[in-house]
Amino acid sequence: MKHLNKIVASAALLAASTLAAGAEEFRLGLITPPPHIWTKAAEAFGAELAEASGGTHSLSVFPAQQLGNEAEMLQQLQTGALDMAFMTVAEVSNRAPDLGAFYAPYLADDIAHAGRILRSETAKDLLEPLPAQVGVVGLGYGMAGLRQIVSRGEINKAEDLAGLKLRITPFTPILDFYNALGAAPTPMPLPAVYDALANGQVDAIDMDAELIWVLKYYEHADTIVQSDHMMFPMVGLVSARVWGGLSEEDRAMIGEMIARHVDSTIDSYIAKEAEWLEQIEGTGKSYKKVDASFFGDAIAAWNAIWSEKTTALDALRATAAETR
Ligand code: BEZ
Repeated sequence: MKHLNKIVASAALLAASTLAAGAEEFRLGLITPPPHIWTKAAEAFGAELAEASGGTHSLSVFPAQQLGNEAEMLQQLQTGALDMAFMTVAEVSNRAPDLGAFYAPYLADDIAHAGRILRSETAKDLLEPLPAQVGVVGLGYGMAGLRQIVSRGEINKAEDLAGLKLRITPFTPILDFYNALGAAPTPMPLPAVYDALANGQVDAIDMDAELIWVLKYYEHADTIVQSDHMMFPMVGLVSARVWGGLSEEDRAMIGEMIARHVDSTIDSYIAKEAEWLEQIEGTGKSYKKVDASFFGDAIAAWNAIWSEKTTALDALRATAAETR
């Protein structure tokens, strides 16, 4: 609550212009497809908002990049052309580098630990600068699963990644990681990944278990490396301009609801991650479970780069240690 009060105040200060108070029709964008856990959470938020406001407010959810990719949606949030988004922290970290600390390789031991890190005060504090820094209000975290590697060719050791065109989400921490491994990281938004893997435009992808299984990426692969090498947080955002135009009552209601619905995704991944991984392993593809030692010096190289880029690493590592 202390966190919410602080961001309410800073967003209100920042609001250069405001929409009419009592705006009724909000729009929320995401890049995930309709059956995805994030999209379902956005729809559940919309249904609850309509009901709790007695129909005064409604929410239209635009999945699958209908409003543009995340970089474009972030710009729309900044101008107030878009009201809300459930967005990868990856994209926001391109504007707020401290958020890059979440991607320290093996910061989280497992998916439940990732959830505890995201629910910490340290994590919440990292949202406070967003209104001034990025022009958005971050109301709480969700997440997707831990990151894995899916490859069209055989992977037995980290050296086998060298030179591979390997699809990454477009953000710097993951770029630095695969550069340190000698791969050829290829930034590509989520909706383009299936075709790129299927037609060989990329040799491998960095992905989570839900999408590997549900979108059947494994069908176009020979090897799945279950490495669990990074967590993948999401954040519920409201345009700071739009936020500044809301009544205090609406801010409290909407802020609480968004925080709860994005948080619900954490429970979903904790409940389902192991099952997806088992199903992927059961496909008969070459399946390798590896740990930090697989990546050799690349992790130390990443740590060296990011200790220069963010001051948040130490605090997040301390929180990770406390929540083990
Ligand atoms: C990805 O870029 O891999 C991704 C984006 C959103 C949700 C899950 C994965």
